[in-house]
Amino acid sequence: MKKVITYGTYDLLHQGHINLLRRAKELGDYLIVGVTSDSFDKGRGKLNVRNNVLERVEAVKAIGYADEIIIEDYLGQKIDDVQKYDVDIFAIGSDWEGHFDYLNEFCKVVYLPRTQGVSSTMLRAETQEVFKVGVVGSGRIAKRFVPESKVVNGVEVTAVYDPNKKSAYSFAETFDINAYTDNYSTFLDGVDAVYIASPHLTHYQYAKDALYAGKHVLCEIPFVLSGAQAKELYDYAEEHNLVLLEANKTAYCPAFCHLTTLVKSGMIGDIVDVKASLSKMMESGTRELDVAQAGGAMNEHAPLNLMAIIKFLGKEYLHVNFHSKVENGVDIYTKATINYPHATSSITLGIGVKTEGNLVVSGTKGYIYVPAPWWLTSFFEVRYEDQTKNKKYFYCYDGEGLRYEIQEFMSMIVNSRRSCYKLRRRESIAIAEIIEKFNKKENYTEI
Ligand code: CTP
Repeated sequence: MKKVITYGTYDLLHQGHINLLRRAKELGDYLIVGVTSDSFDKGRGKLNVRNNVLERVEAVKAIGYADEIIIEDYLGQKIDDVQKYDVDIFAIGSDWEGHFDYLNEFCKVVYLPRTQGVSSTMLRAETQEVFKVGVVGSGRIAKRFVPESKVVNGVEVTAVYDPNKKSAYSFAETFDINAYTDNYSTFLDGVDAVYIASPHLTHYQYAKDALYAGKHVLCEIPFVLSGAQAKELYDYAEEHNLVLLEANKTAYCPAFCHLTTLVKSGMIGDIVDVKASLSKMMESGTRELDVAQAGGAMNEHAPLNLMAIIKFLGKEYLHVNFHSKVENGVDIYTKATINYPHATSSITLGIGVKTEGNLVVSGTKGYIYVPAPWWLTSFFEVRYEDQTKNKKYFYCYDGEGLRYEIQEFMSMIVNSRRSCYKLRRRESIAIAEIIEKFNKKENYTEI
């Protein structure tokens, strides 16, 4: 019996897929089809796949050519499968010509003619509503947004707002954006959603005005500097069926999401301590070192680090205290300790003090170690007393990592989802509350 194997995502099943499966089947007597898992596709940067793996498997099954369907879940699996299933022929569309020649060592490789004029990418683009997104601010952070948005379907950056019109103009020129303005209400009129990447103290008002104008909002961190403001904005968004999402980028990246599920599933037992650190030295004269612009290590770095603690331990902490080293009115270093009834946690943050930027989650059975920079999570290790049980996990962290939050934001808009399990509204409010306590100098000691 001649066995043939072929692979694909098979999203939004189309005639090209059907032709390919028929041709592959005709090459032998038994056809195995490998369908990519959702996490494998995400891991290789295919963020826009519409059908989940079960739907895609069902679609391939319904065509009737496959004798067996398997799931492709890791890089290098093709070599394993070819040997494991005793495959004679590996077949794939001609768009992959040459790419799989390395399999010739294990079986015959055949590139089949690809059907012209159709692809899942085309179908996704044709059926995708495109949302016009405006960028608020034109500084360092805003500049990362436009290239990242290009890898997410359904988003087009069409306008930029900055109170400094020259800056808005130069941003628009750089990124080939038609509309630039220093008038916020004109700006809002032309867009469906906004991404706020302006100085910290302006977030609340820009977000509020955008929501009141009926626009969805993705807001950079720190989202707002008060729990009450955060709650007010989330309540308004909910009442008016709008998406409001904190752009706490680590919360949405694949590795951190998986880490959260491992922690929650008890892999290291009960969580007893979480330590998160982040330091980034800032040059004098920057906004981060300016007290008038809410500079300082806490306002700058706390959102990512508090996010990790609140994800793992929840928001019902008992007590929080802060120790800071201050220069020219801003904390260049802050250590916050947040205690829970059954756990402890701390964040160590620096903009004028350098610390190791790792994350350690300790439990009753083991601990998880994420090396610096933990917030660009691409690798972590689960460690036990018995080191032979240790396990390392590797992931992609593509580009600047903003694509994951943009993808989540768009998916919430398109699917009318107003709450996101990756960062709940109540978790975002708790982050703002802790930052507010710091700014009010509650339980605060200067060192
Ligand atoms: N295929 C084909 N003709 C097409 C599209 C796909 O023969 N018009 C083949 C591919 O070469 C591959 C298989 O179908 O062997 C599954 O491809 P997949 O990547 O799932 O389909 P695409 O439509 O190419 O998807 P995308 O646009 O997401 O890359």
